[in-house]
Amino acid sequence: MDPSNLLSVAMRWLHLTSVVVIVGGAVHASFFSTAGKPVPGAPQRVLFALIALLGSGIFQLLNRMPVPPVYHMLFGIKFLLFLHIGAVTMLVNRPGVDDAKRSRMLLGVAISGLTTILISAFLRSIQ
Ligand code: HEM
Repeated sequence: MDPSNLLSVAMRWLHLTSVVVIVGGAVHASFFSTAGKPVPGAPQRVLFALIALLGSGIFQLLNRMPVPPVYHMLFGIKFLLFLHIGAVTMLVNRPGVDDAKRSRMLLGVAISGLTTILISAFLRSIQ
């Protein structure tokens, strides 16, 4: 395996792992648990995962260029959903967010996250 291939694999791993952390966390809190209170250090970890997601995503995008117009359109929607996911996962850990509001916010992240994964599956199938 040549070194550039190794870097691609590492970036793909980082992207998917960050997705697991952010989207998986929201899906778990929305559908599989009741006490979804943030632990100390959660905001920093969320920020770290968001930066890893963005960085590894930009790397994959640059490697994928050039792409057809339909890819641009779907990617634009994906990026808007990412902005929603990023903003809400940062805001959900702020003090003063009560349990009912936290549940609503995390459900929104879970829905946007699952939609983003669907769009990513389409992106992958575009030649
Ligand atoms: C919560 C947000 C995100 C989710 C859930 C998500 C999810 C995914 C998934 C599941 C894949 C498929 C990976 C694979 O099969 O190897 C993927 C690929 C990709 N992601 Fe993301 N991603 C997110 C954010 C981003 C961001 C912010 C960027 C860029 C700035 C990005 C750019 C890409 C690119 C370029 C690919 C490759 C698509 C292709 O095969 O052409 N993603 N993403």
